Amino acid sequence: MSATAMRTHRCGALRAAHAGLDVRLGGWVHRRRDLGGLVFFDLRDRDGLVQVAFGPDWTPPAVMDAAGKVGNEFVILVRGKVIARPEHARNPDMSTGDVEVRASDIEICSRAVTPPIPVARSKGEPLPSEELRLVNRHLDLRRPELQKNFELRHRLFQCARTTLAGQGFLEIETPILTKPTPEGARDYLVPSRVHPGQFYALPQSPQIYKQVLMMSGFDRYFQIARCFRDEDLRADRQPEFTQIDLEASFVGPNDVYAVVESVLAALWAEGGHPVQTPFPRMAHRDAMERFGTDKPDLRYGFEIEDLGAVVGGKGFRAFDDALSAGGRVRGVRVAGGAALSRKDVDAITDVARAAGLGGLATLKRQGDQVTGSLAKLEGLTADVARLADGDMLFVAAGKDTVTSPALDRVRLDVIRRLKPAPRVAHAFTWVDAFPLFEKDRETGAWVFAHHPFTTPHPEDIARLKAGERAGIRALHYDAVYNGNELGSGSIRITDPDLQLMIFDILGIKADDAQRRFGFLLTALASGAPPHGGFAIGFDRVAMLLCGAESLRDVIAFPKTTAARALFEDTPAPIDAADLRVFKLAPVP
Ligand code: AMO
Repeated sequence: MSATAMRTHRCGALRAAHAGLDVRLGGWVHRRRDLGGLVFFDLRDRDGLVQVAFGPDWTPPAVMDAAGKVGNEFVILVRGKVIARPEHARNPDMSTGDVEVRASDIEICSRAVTPPIPVARSKGEPLPSEELRLVNRHLDLRRPELQKNFELRHRLFQCARTTLAGQGFLEIETPILTKPTPEGARDYLVPSRVHPGQFYALPQSPQIYKQVLMMSGFDRYFQIARCFRDEDLRADRQPEFTQIDLEASFVGPNDVYAVVESVLAALWAEGGHPVQTPFPRMAHRDAMERFGTDKPDLRYGFEIEDLGAVVGGKGFRAFDDALSAGGRVRGVRVAGGAALSRKDVDAITDVARAAGLGGLATLKRQGDQVTGSLAKLEGLTADVARLADGDMLFVAAGKDTVTSPALDRVRLDVIRRLKPAPRVAHAFTWVDAFPLFEKDRETGAWVFAHHPFTTPHPEDIARLKAGERAGIRALHYDAVYNGNELGSGSIRITDPDLQLMIFDILGIKADDAQRRFGFLLTALASGAPPHGGFAIGFDRVAMLLCGAESLRDVIAFPKTTAARALFEDTPAPIDAADLRVFKLAPVP
């Protein structure tokens, strides 16, 4: 430290070994206590808190006076000597609790108004409402929990960069003012002043650009990419978010898996959780069959089973109707489920109903007693249903498109209520062989399941060319962790004719395809290596590794679920004069 440095140490860094040193510290006054002529500050910086003591025996009177006028969240510089605290005065709850700094000088850098939300909270004191915290984000970000989250987020970034650069991936930026890149959401648009009536789109992902980079010979690309999507928001979605985006040439799925596994394993290790690679794999079909979702939480059992043969034809009307209408009867088998209370079972049934099921039938065994709405079915004994003592079945009937998501919710709600011990703490899995297309719920038209650049599974191309759509698989894969989709990727189409055919199936005719994706088609026709890639949802990774409940706890200035930024108050109307510059009409 030079003699002129404002600070010689960070507050949170002081330990018993520093005793006797003269130090200069800077920070925020976290808390102050006045005790019979002594004044104590907890001084806070990024590294933590340290106690600074002002007392007539070691602090000059003018400095005592100045210290008396300091309030919470003032920013100060202090000089003083580090003193080892006597045994009885040590504070084991503070990492600097073995020492205090006896102040000989103080400089008030900046005063602070009384904070509208407290920065210092006592143990167990609840947080103010999230809305109030978002409005006062500058203060909320001072919370040590959030400071820690951003410190880990930073380390995760460095770790991803090092891991990918170490494998020959080049970090290349792609534009933010772009042509629309379809990823299934709406675009955020930016009007052009120079070209009135024309718009840039903010990228939903760097998808097309990274593919073009492969055609330009870059071979291995990555980017910590900001993406923008105007879509319905939830706790695990933000309108702008960050991906660790990568693409490589001359690769198949296994090569991409190995790279992504190396990055995820490095990130988890950085977060303090060493994990095993390779990750297991599961076909999309099996995930839907066994768990009712494409992002199964494999920490727990309670799998979905087809129970048609067990409960069908036994006079249960709803089941027989569903079976004769081509549906199925499936259920979740819950070991230990008999421990659920009546209230729990009613609540689980409500979850099923909210997910679109007419009802949820049950069968449970306790000792020799078999109860539940299916118990009266003739011939349906515990043996027939393979129910062990203490087990319970939740059974639903209907089309898979309804029962799968509903049984997924039932399973997760059962897990939430029973809190079984997880089989493993970190359950990663690949889910692959996704369908290439899905049906739009409203229009019934075929739409792409992920994005239109994913190549069909080579074994299904003949069926695709013969006109089949349902069940055509894609070389698409997701990385799933404890029930969260961490990221997605695929092997891409490299044949421009196949790309045009896929566009056509999606209702994008050739001239429209040229207009929207001409630059990709041109590049594809100019020598395209086989290539594929992946994008890791970085905010989700940070959220999970920080143990945070929401992406908002790992994004410095996040938006609400209504896509508003409360701190800076945006979006906001623009002046009529500015609208004129863009030749935009005011909203009537
Ligand atoms: P996809 O659209 O699946 O794939 O996105 C990849 C991952 O990004 C994260 N993610 C989000 N995170 C926060 N808020 C959002 N609104 C949001 N949307 C997505 C998820 C998701 O798994 N271009 C392809 C990747 C590829 O094919 O290489 C893509 O963007 O964790």
